[in-house]
Amino acid sequence: MRRGTDIEAAAGVLRAGGLVAFPTETVYGLGADAASSSAVTRVFAVKGRPRQHPLIAHLADGAELDAWARDVPAAARALAAAFWPGPLTLILRRGDRIASEVTGGADTVGLRVPAHPLAQALLAGFGGAVAAPSANRFGHISPTTADHVVADLGDEVDYVLDGGPCVIGVESTIVDLSGAAPTLLRPGGVPRAAIEQVLAGPLAAPVSTSAPAPGTLPSHYAPRARVIAVEPSELLAAVRDGIGRVAVLAPARLLATLELPAGVIAAPLPDDDAGAARALYGLLRDLDHAGFDTVVAALPAMHGLGEAVADRLRRAGGPRGKPGNNHHE
Ligand code: TXA
Ligand code: MG
Repeated sequence: MRRGTDIEAAAGVLRAGGLVAFPTETVYGLGADAASSSAVTRVFAVKGRPRQHPLIAHLADGAELDAWARDVPAAARALAAAFWPGPLTLILRRGDRIASEVTGGADTVGLRVPAHPLAQALLAGFGGAVAAPSANRFGHISPTTADHVVADLGDEVDYVLDGGPCVIGVESTIVDLSGAAPTLLRPGGVPRAAIEQVLAGPLAAPVSTSAPAPGTLPSHYAPRARVIAVEPSELLAAVRDGIGRVAVLAPARLLATLELPAGVIAAPLPDDDAGAARALYGLLRDLDHAGFDTVVAALPAMHGLGEAVADRLRRAGGPRGKPGNNHHE
């Protein structure tokens, strides 16, 4: 494994069918040539991810949309114009150039143009689409620093492009435009309200009978510690139910108002929703390393990036071990 900021070296690894972990504004991705079946197959193997769970294909420029998707609706073009480059993934009908392994055999493909300068340089230097899931082991917390990537995947990655900490810190918003109505599959870096403003209408909720995206499975983005996500008013009651060493993850301003029982540790998040999103995954990793058994987390208000943070906290605490529920990504 090499690590650094050498774009040419990293693009060369992609061209040779290798794997490059690279920073985006959301989280680090584990990238492979999206037109190469063997390179994409290796991504699934390294992550330990089931083959039918599709990957997002990353493009250098929105102008490439029609090269990788077909029947692109006007709503998709409007969202791409408004938010690319940026933390938005569009699900569209797939074009032929994408290796079928990327989409897990599905007839749709997730496309995104990331804004991070190193991601942009890598994509431009490589010249094709880069299939990339988050660069973590399936089911674990997404990496927001190069150190997180190395801790999870280490020598199984050929090159780690080090761009420092990710500025958004939670994954992209996923909007499905392949069906009758634009549907929010995963809240993320672009707030729902901004998308609904461009669409001039509300986003639909996923139909529960359709196959769920892995990132929308009940247990996901999970640390080792048990996470209990509750409304702020229920924090103290949940703390009393906590097992073993307990930490309370909540905005600093809220924590300052609470009288925590002896031995319970406060883990403060920034008070603003963007700051909380940026800090969330690193803090969850730190709490795991420090050996906490239970993390009681305050659910934020559902505006701005708060909806994505609440979603990840709920999934981090989702039921595990039940048949059909214990998938991880
Ligand atoms: O911010 C992000 O989106 C990061 C960075 C690296 O771009 N990537 C990321 O990838 O979070 P991943 O693989 O961890 O999550 C991708 C999500 C999964 O929930 C997957 O099921 C969904 O996108 N997805 C991809 N293609 C899809 C498709 N054709 N239909 C429905 N869902 C799809
Ligand atoms: Mg992921």
